[in-house]
Amino acid sequence: MRPLLLIWMGLLALLATPSRMAAGASSQLAPARSPASQAPPPPAARFAIPAEPQRPGDPKAGYDALVNAGYVSCGVPWSIFRVAYGDAQANRRLRGRRGRNARLSYDMTALRTPRGVEVVTANCLGCHATPTREGVIIGLGNSALDLTEDFSTYAMAAGLLAQDGDELAEWWRWSSRIRAVSPYTRPDTIGVNPADNLAAVLAAHRDPETLAWSSEPLQPLPPREPVPADVPAWWLLRKKNALFHTGIGRGDHARLMMSSSMLCTDSVEEAERIDGYFDDVRAYLLTLRPPAWPYPIDRRRAAEGRELFEAFCSECHGTYGANESYPNLIIPLEEVGTDPLLWQSTAREGVPMVEWFNRSFYGRSARLEPGPGYVAPPLDGIWATAPYLHNGSVPTVEALLDSRKRPTWWRRSSSRRELDPVALGWRHQVLSHGKHAEPDASLRKRIYDTTLPGYSNQGHTFGDELSDSQRKAVIEYLKTL
Ligand code: HEC
Ligand code: HEC
Repeated sequence: MRPLLLIWMGLLALLATPSRMAAGASSQLAPARSPASQAPPPPAARFAIPAEPQRPGDPKAGYDALVNAGYVSCGVPWSIFRVAYGDAQANRRLRGRRGRNARLSYDMTALRTPRGVEVVTANCLGCHATPTREGVIIGLGNSALDLTEDFSTYAMAAGLLAQDGDELAEWWRWSSRIRAVSPYTRPDTIGVNPADNLAAVLAAHRDPETLAWSSEPLQPLPPREPVPADVPAWWLLRKKNALFHTGIGRGDHARLMMSSSMLCTDSVEEAERIDGYFDDVRAYLLTLRPPAWPYPIDRRRAAEGRELFEAFCSECHGTYGANESYPNLIIPLEEVGTDPLLWQSTAREGVPMVEWFNRSFYGRSARLEPGPGYVAPPLDGIWATAPYLHNGSVPTVEALLDSRKRPTWWRRSSSRRELDPVALGWRHQVLSHGKHAEPDASLRKRIYDTTLPGYSNQGHTFGDELSDSQRKAVIEYLKTL
């Protein structure tokens, strides 16, 4: 790298600092997370989420829009992007992509902005697809994403490479968003997803009526440390009457889905344009199905497991096969007993994001409606979606069904997905210490530490009453879903 460039990058890093300090100074806007014990007790009844009318759409047009359209409408100018990135490897490319997109990685989209500048931006698939050696699995949440780095300095430095005023303006627009969100979207653990904080910060910087961006937050920001979430598989959507782990997303699902592209949607007019094709995107998402279990199945065992599943699990998770059913239940926190933080910080009355959303353009046909706890999700393709629970705190189904086996501290064997075909889930190493006792930062971020707020692996003890051999039978059955 040229020395001059290095100096400039240093200067820009400094320039970036005041905005971070300003955000820190407005700490009255960033309340500390309240401990579980201060939360008012949630209502006790299970809540059956009713179905609501949805807009029909064309799945083919929906796929095309998902992989080609500029619903995230700002990005890095192409001329800057290409300095750092070449063509994507074949296993990261997607079929049906047009123009530059055909050679870009699945998680990036190229588009031309109204100023006429070609930019490259992140799309939904960065979180909602998983690359494998054989290709990209669309809909499988990427539980190996490393979002622990601070990208804001790179984002600032990139502007040096802009070739003219228009490119500089586009870069500035994009990097201003990155600088606003990045202090709030850096989990300290690989695989943990900060999307809920991302949405809350983007909302706080927008006028709900006009969607205009404000560089200063207009309402309280969430605490900086993002609440850990695991990305739900998109192939479950066809069964769901509500979106999100807490079942808070109600009404028009296409509208809820397009609200995830909010990074640069700065006017109602633009939001309406995106909304106009998200009925198709939703229709496409509803066609997704889970990948089939790739190894042999012990059919006798699985049949035994099915009976047990229907006796112990179906009341919440539904039945599968020819006469499938799914009850769409939110199970109250006190009954399911899993970590309360995601519910507390995203799905409670009085959470700023909930009020903002319901007053905004997005709230005209959709709404965030807090419920009493977490959705009992459908279990189709559960073998492929480790780690488990809404916070990804349990690495295998075996440990999910026997709470005594859940590791307090664990580490993925590598950053790549590695299936454990017996315990059903993520191969991992059990550790004897947590993050605080790990001096090496590169190891620390690989440790899933269930003693931290939001990261607990407590609750869902419904499998504990089964015997070991019954649990094995249930696991064999789950492979068939
Ligand atoms: C930064 C990562 C990230 C990006 C980018 C992202 N999502 Fe998500 N998405 C998540 C996470 C995490 C959740 C679960 C949040 C929760 O339930 O609290 C989620 C939930 C959802 C759900 C609900 C799933 C369910 O079963 O309830 C849908 C639908 C969805 N996202 C669609 C989209 C679309 C469409 C885009 C692009 C416009 C998008 N997402 C972009 C991370 C992301
Ligand atoms: C009383 C309702 C209820 C019963 C009974 C129940 N579950 Fe669950 N289950 C839930 C809820 C709610 C969640 C989500 C909890 C969370 O994420 O915090 C869940 C989560 C799960 C998950 C993790 C899903 C994922 O994608 O991470 C699996 C696997 C699972 N249950 C399997 C079972 C099995 C097998 C049984 C029977 C032995 C069972 N459950 C019994 C309510 C129930």
